[in-house]
Amino acid sequence: MTHIFKLQQVVKSFGPNHVLRGIDLDIRRGENLVVLGGSGTGKSVMLKLLIGLIQADSGQIIFEGQDITHLAERAYYPIRKRVSYLFQGGALFDSMNVYQNLAYPLKEHTDMSSPAILAKVQDALTKVGLKDIEHLSPSDLSGGMMKRVALARAIINEPELILYDEPTTGLDPITTHTINELIRKMQSDLNISSVIVTHDMPTVHRCADRLAFLDKGVIAFIGSLEEARLSTHPKLRAYFEGEAID
Ligand SMILES: Nc1ncnc2c1ncn2[C@@H]1O[C@H](COP(=O)(O)OP(=O)(O)OP(=O)(O)O)[C@@H](O)[C@H]1O
Ligand SMILES: [Mg+2]
Repeated sequence: MTHIFKLQQVVKSFGPNHVLRGIDLDIRRGENLVVLGGSGTGKSVMLKLLIGLIQADSGQIIFEGQDITHLAERAYYPIRKRVSYLFQGGALFDSMNVYQNLAYPLKEHTDMSSPAILAKVQDALTKVGLKDIEHLSPSDLSGGMMKRVALARAIINEPELILYDEPTTGLDPITTHTINELIRKMQSDLNISSVIVTHDMPTVHRCADRLAFLDKGVIAFIGSLEEARLSTHPKLRAYFEGEAID
C-alpha cells in the first residue's frame, strides 16, 4: 500500500462557511507533504478530518484502504495511535508536568508498566534533544522546547504518520532550523511520514518532498518543490517571490 490516506471530493462546511469544497489528495507512505494555504482556508480543518476530530459532510477519506469517513468515535482511537497530531500552538496540558504529558498517550493506549513508560518518555525526549526536564511544567518551557516536547509526545506511540500544524510558527530562525531538522530526522531515522502545514518557507525548503496548495476549498496545486516554483498560480507564486531561483 503506497498511500496512507486518500481523500476524494471531501467537502466540509460550517453553516454558510463552505471551507472545503472537494478535496482530492493522496498522502503517500514515506513522504513529507507540505500544505500551504492562506489563513482560514481550512488547513487545520483538513488535518482534523483525517483523524476524525471532525467529520466530512460528503466525500471519502480512505485510510490504508479502509473508508473511515464516518466512524463511531471509538473507532478512530486506533487510527489516532498510528497518526499523531501536533496541534497548532503545541498544546500541552498545562496542569501536567512534562513527564505526565508524555506518559498520557501511553496510559491511554497501552497497558505498559510504570518503569517501561518512564523509559519510553526519556527515550522520546532524547530523540528530540531534551534531557532532565520531566519535572518541569509547560509554563516553564520556552516556545521551542514546548514544540519539541509536543513532538516527543507525538512520536511516543511510534506512529506511521505525524500531522504537524504550523510546527515552527513564532519561533526564531535557529529554533525553526532545529525543528525542521527534527522533522527530517523523524522521516529518515524512524520511518515516519509527515503532513506539515506551514507558512514558513525555510520549512518548505528543508522538509517538503511534495507540496500541496489549498485555495478556495480545493487543492489548487500539488507537485514537487521544483514544479511549485514554476507554477503560474498567482497566490502560490507569492510564496516564492523574491527567492532566488537556482
Ligand atoms: N469547529 C468549527 N466550527 C465552526 N467553524 C470552524 C470550526 N473549525 C474551523 N472553522 C472555520 O473554518 C475555517 C478554516 O479554519 P482553519 O482553522 O482550518 O483555517 P487554517 O487554514 O488552519 O488557518 P490558519 O492558517 O490561520 O491556521 C475558518 O473560517 C474557521 O473559522
Ligand atoms: Mg490552522
